Amino acid sequence: MKKVIIYSIPIVMAIGILSCKNSTPNNFSNSLNIDQKVDSLLSIMTLEEKIGQMNQYNGFWDVTGPTPKDGDAAKKYEHLRKGYVGSMLNVTGVKDVRAVQKIAVEETRLGIPLIIGFDVIHGYKTISPIPLAEAASWDLDAIKKSSEIAALESSAAGINWTFAPMVDISRDARWGRVMEGAGEDTYLGSKIAVARVQGFQGSNLADKATIVACAKHFAGYGFSESGRDYNTVDVGTSTLNNIIFPPFKATVDAGVKTFMNSFNELNGVPATGNAFLQREVLKDKWNFDGFVVSDWGSIKEMIAHGYAKDLNAAAELAANAGSDMDMESYAYVEELSKLVKENKVSANFIDDAVKRILKVKYELGLFDDPYKYCNEEREKEVTGSKAINDAVLDVAKKSIVLLKNENNLLPLKKNGQKIALIGALAADKTSPLGSWRIAAEDSTAVSVLEGMKNYTNNTLTYAKGADVAVGKTEFAFELKINTTDKSEFSKAINTAKNADVVVMVLGEHGYQSGEARSRTSLDLPGVQQELLEAVYAVNKNIVLVLNNGRPLAITWADEHIPAIVEAWHLGTQTGNAVAQVLYGDYNPSGKLPMTFPRNVGQVPIYYNYKNTGRPSTDNPDIVFWSHYIDESNKPLYPFGHGLSYTKFKYRNLKVVKLPNNEVEVSVEVTNIGSVTGKEVVQLYIRDLFASVTRPVKELKGFKMVELEPNTTKNITLKLTSKELGFFNNKGEFVIEPGDFKVFVGGSSYTSLEADFTL
Ligand code: BGC
Repeated sequence: MKKVIIYSIPIVMAIGILSCKNSTPNNFSNSLNIDQKVDSLLSIMTLEEKIGQMNQYNGFWDVTGPTPKDGDAAKKYEHLRKGYVGSMLNVTGVKDVRAVQKIAVEETRLGIPLIIGFDVIHGYKTISPIPLAEAASWDLDAIKKSSEIAALESSAAGINWTFAPMVDISRDARWGRVMEGAGEDTYLGSKIAVARVQGFQGSNLADKATIVACAKHFAGYGFSESGRDYNTVDVGTSTLNNIIFPPFKATVDAGVKTFMNSFNELNGVPATGNAFLQREVLKDKWNFDGFVVSDWGSIKEMIAHGYAKDLNAAAELAANAGSDMDMESYAYVEELSKLVKENKVSANFIDDAVKRILKVKYELGLFDDPYKYCNEEREKEVTGSKAINDAVLDVAKKSIVLLKNENNLLPLKKNGQKIALIGALAADKTSPLGSWRIAAEDSTAVSVLEGMKNYTNNTLTYAKGADVAVGKTEFAFELKINTTDKSEFSKAINTAKNADVVVMVLGEHGYQSGEARSRTSLDLPGVQQELLEAVYAVNKNIVLVLNNGRPLAITWADEHIPAIVEAWHLGTQTGNAVAQVLYGDYNPSGKLPMTFPRNVGQVPIYYNYKNTGRPSTDNPDIVFWSHYIDESNKPLYPFGHGLSYTKFKYRNLKVVKLPNNEVEVSVEVTNIGSVTGKEVVQLYIRDLFASVTRPVKELKGFKMVELEPNTTKNITLKLTSKELGFFNNKGEFVIEPGDFKVFVGGSSYTSLEADFTL
């Protein structure tokens, strides 16, 4: 509903402002609330100034999308001076942020400050694990903390808006951007989405250590066909409502201030021009009161999609569909004013978009002090501080997943072991930073080699064995050329021959996942598989430490290698985190947030699949059931899998029905091993018969428990109607009476189960 406010006082003040150069509209009376201030400011803005607020430009240096047109820098400066720019991205560091902010505040007619955006995806200069890795911690406090310190460090460098969290659910490991999300599960993904929003935004946006979060990419981006980035998305109502939407909705409920739309089309309509997504669902149904930014150039890309015939049509479609801010399409700044004058875009839509944007700026406190994030002293003091590095190390070790550990090869002994360390990634100080670490300097991670060397007095001999890839390692380039060079194999083999234990760090370079880094193979890139087999031929005592931004199909390794540690891309503190886990000073507690396939042909493979009409057969002669003739249906490692240096036993699963469709589930968990360990107790349900078929299992609760040897804890988890219901195909949330199963254990492949009826 349109608010009615009395403009008389603000307008008088506004006239004052207009006649007073170098003033900003922060002079509105403090008795006005933010909405009133926004309305007052809006009332004195020209159409062009309003559209300017809806225009976002990239800075003049780094790009995170296709390079802008020639000669744009001059135009950008001119537009900045005229007040035709509401936001900039990729301007970093106090000095540069201050320079652009100064133009906006001191040279434009109204002096409206810019909001400064940046992809603070997993840290700013000090890098946390990639988001997929952090999701493996299942530790919401640690994830929140990681976002908090990312906000702290980036805000000290002038940034006040991050394009994170990416809350796209994805079941396709070929898609390079799975590294940036929380994996395949909606329940876990929603919890993590909330933790990240809370971490970035804190409880008070005006606090200078907090920044605005952005839930992206709305919607469906993680379901791009065949895992190829930017590809078409065609999903049904049930998947949209039950799988894709919930993490986005959770961020709205958690108070996220911005959304980013998406490059993909969804069921024939590009997300950027999609009024169903942005107006009907997000703004009307969910009552989102923040603003929506387009993805990089996505307004213009609607021309290539075959949806808009030119930039003018693209601007019209995007604005009418509820995209409030244009990132680097130049569509709004060039076309929108004509469109409003021709009544093709309603002035009310413009006002609505501008109000949303101004409101966030007021909430950040930018009108009170546009330079509040521009303090060089603070920047120096905060960047790379010990506290930030300590927090990064903490979440890095919690993100590691022990996939396999035969004969207790791990933990390594601290004395008297001869260790051979093999693999180019073991010595790499850039790759562990992963993708999306734009502000971090290359070579700033602690390598596994450094971490292990510093850790014990064991003899440690290093051999590269083989490069992972050759090619440029700068952000903008893809490492697609895998090396075939095996000339270093023999050195590695000799080193391995003489060792008690061989630690091999293999996998993907940090830039082999991320945006536009889709793969058709999930094998170890290059000649690494051959290297692994060649080393195995001389020494079977191998600990394989995987570095990767997505699940890999390492089936041979699983069959042969006794110990496998999933170490992802863990960021700045990688080597220290890996060393602490390998030497047992941190007992691994991570659990996979995404299913690992046996073979890329199984993808998309995920634990919460539907049963089909022909799920299995007891008769080996029957061919006609849902399976492959050349591979099992089973994953290599299921969702939720992760071992510890101790063992946990689950017993006494009990289900108690409470009033109001609530169910209490309890289980006893005992540490039956010899060291203290942490376990993520996972609760899954299955709604056996429903008006819309339900998955064979759905995660609906989890709890982290720490247990000393020979101790038991009774864990209780509650299911409410929120967990027991689902969205039907009319988009209504329903709880249907009937029979349910409940499963509890340490992975989605748990055997303990019970029944209840609603
Ligand atoms: C990505 C977004 C990112 C934006 C700005 C795009 O290419 O899809 O996630 O926030 O660039 O860097």
